[in-house]
Amino acid sequence: MQNEFIHALRETVNQHWAQIRRGRFWDHVMSKPVSREFYRDLMVEIHHYTKHNSMNQAATAFVNAPEGLLKFAYHHAADELGHERMVTHDLESIGLLDRELLARPPLPATEALIGYLYFVALRYGAVARLGYSFWAESVYEHIGEVLGKVRSDLSLTDKNMSFFVAHSTIDKKHIVQVEECIDRYAKTPAEQALVRSVAETTLFLTGQMLEQVAQRHA
Ligand SMILES: [Fe+2]
Ligand SMILES: [Fe+2]
Repeated sequence: MQNEFIHALRETVNQHWAQIRRGRFWDHVMSKPVSREFYRDLMVEIHHYTKHNSMNQAATAFVNAPEGLLKFAYHHAADELGHERMVTHDLESIGLLDRELLARPPLPATEALIGYLYFVALRYGAVARLGYSFWAESVYEHIGEVLGKVRSDLSLTDKNMSFFVAHSTIDKKHIVQVEECIDRYAKTPAEQALVRSVAETTLFLTGQMLEQVAQRHA
């Protein structure tokens, strides 16, 4: 899309991923054999925040927004509903599903990410939350390297990785819609600054979540 703001936002996102790649999580996955427990602990955290993505998208409607953007928010909230079941499916497919473990409290960074997204929804609304969707719906280009390593270490197939493989197909549609919404509804410097800060903070918190997963296995 020919939009200067989107272009700059993509640059910012790339820089944040470069930072995450320099961290402990990346180093662990790329330089050591990934254990089943490590993968399971990662998926438990993903399950925690994914459960909330439909709700925090729907909650953006409490802040006034153009009708077209609200329509996107409602559709997108419905689309994201239940996506955490891809995580349970994937864990179950390799005998790693433990419901008790799945119900344990999130790590601090995961809890902070979950809480922050409700704050964004209720305080800033649908335009701001686009900053999260902007990178989350196209995350696959950044995590391909680590996913490939996990896949080969644990001998996983596409069917064992529906959260990352089938999901990426669904998200191709989402990222187009999200960029259209940013182009159409994030026009003023204030709106663009909000989108950017939500992208940065959610990426920071996601990076911290990955670091805390790695820390459990240090
Ligand atoms: Fe999803
Ligand atoms: Fe999505």
